[in-house]
Amino acid sequence: MALKNNIHLNSRNQNTINVFYLSIFHSINDAILILNKKGEIIDANKTATKLLRKSFSALKKTPLTSIFIRDNSNNCFKLLQAIKSSKNNFHCKNFITVNKVIYFPASIELTKFVSEFDSKNYFIMEIKDISNQIINEVKERNLIISAQEEERCRLSADLHDSLGQEINAVKTYVAVMGKMNSNEPQFKEAIDECTTILLKATKLISELCFNLMPKSLEKGNLLYAIEELVVKLSKVYKVKYNFPNFDIKLSKENQVNLFRIIQEFISNSIKHSECNTITIYIQETSKGLVIKLKDDGKGFNIKTIKKGNGIYNIQSRLISIQTEYKFISTKNKGTELVIKFSDQKNKNTNSRRSQSSS
Ligand SMILES: Nc1ncnc2c1ncn2[C@@H]1O[C@H](COP(=O)(O)OP(=O)(O)OP(=O)(O)O)[C@@H](O)[C@H]1O
Ligand SMILES: [Mg+2]
Repeated sequence: MALKNNIHLNSRNQNTINVFYLSIFHSINDAILILNKKGEIIDANKTATKLLRKSFSALKKTPLTSIFIRDNSNNCFKLLQAIKSSKNNFHCKNFITVNKVIYFPASIELTKFVSEFDSKNYFIMEIKDISNQIINEVKERNLIISAQEEERCRLSADLHDSLGQEINAVKTYVAVMGKMNSNEPQFKEAIDECTTILLKATKLISELCFNLMPKSLEKGNLLYAIEELVVKLSKVYKVKYNFPNFDIKLSKENQVNLFRIIQEFISNSIKHSECNTITIYIQETSKGLVIKLKDDGKGFNIKTIKKGNGIYNIQSRLISIQTEYKFISTKNKGTELVIKFSDQKNKNTNSRRSQSSS
């Protein structure tokens, strides 16, 4: 009797466990198909039936080849090969079709498991709809492309406005000089004038080159590039800055993005904020690298202001860096941009002077 009760209890427990695991299986957010070693669908969770718009019984009769959109990569064939050769894992991205009409991009993960029930090999095929991810990637790429286009326009305007004027002036002097006698005193004056203009042009080229791509940044040294920028700036503006004692280890692309953000922030503070002081703090905290840019100017409403290239570029670069940031501006208090790099590992202490200027 005791044995009978025990068997009854065990089977009841088993049933409860089955129901428990089935409810987990059906509440998983990603679509799961269970395949046998012939690559046939033998089970599917509720998300899979919803995503593929087929009842469970219809899904069971569906060959995998009919849900994969066939392209040059032939992923369905590769997945079936992985099953045939009993591979432990397989991953691919492919378009999946629903009723051969609707289709979506998906990330597909195949994992082998051995059933404790019959000791046979089965495969879990996880399908994630990645449409939103793809849309975001395309949006991000478009933002970067348009930001690049705007920067090209700005460069062309800079070249035209600065160098263009100087070269035109020299051209005019040279044309006049061509009609002069070299013994005339005005000839010497014109040469002196051309020399002054050309010196100014050389300075402009060097400034333009620095603004385009400082040498130090080209070598991957963001801190030196910022320092150069601050030194130039502090000759004409009140700047507070504090640099850390370590190297910033970010990809060159992100260093350039950060430099451009800092450049634009400073340029906006000078042009629009009427501030007394600009602050640039770079610190390493327990949570990672923090870059704080601040002005104590008149502030503006970020939501309602008519954005120019500058704010648009700052935002698209922040998106491209994919990091946490806070951009706050308060009327009569100023504007602040805080950028955080949580995965920054600045263990290297390459002795740099910590500095400040005010
Ligand atoms: N630090 C700031 N303090 C006050 N107002 C600001 C500040 N930064 C931006 N603004 C306001 O936001 C507007 C948009 O700035 P944005 O940098 O996008 O364009 P812009 O500086 O006018 O032109 P550009 O395309 O040359 O950068 C500015 O015209 C200004 O009114
Ligand atoms: Mg601007």
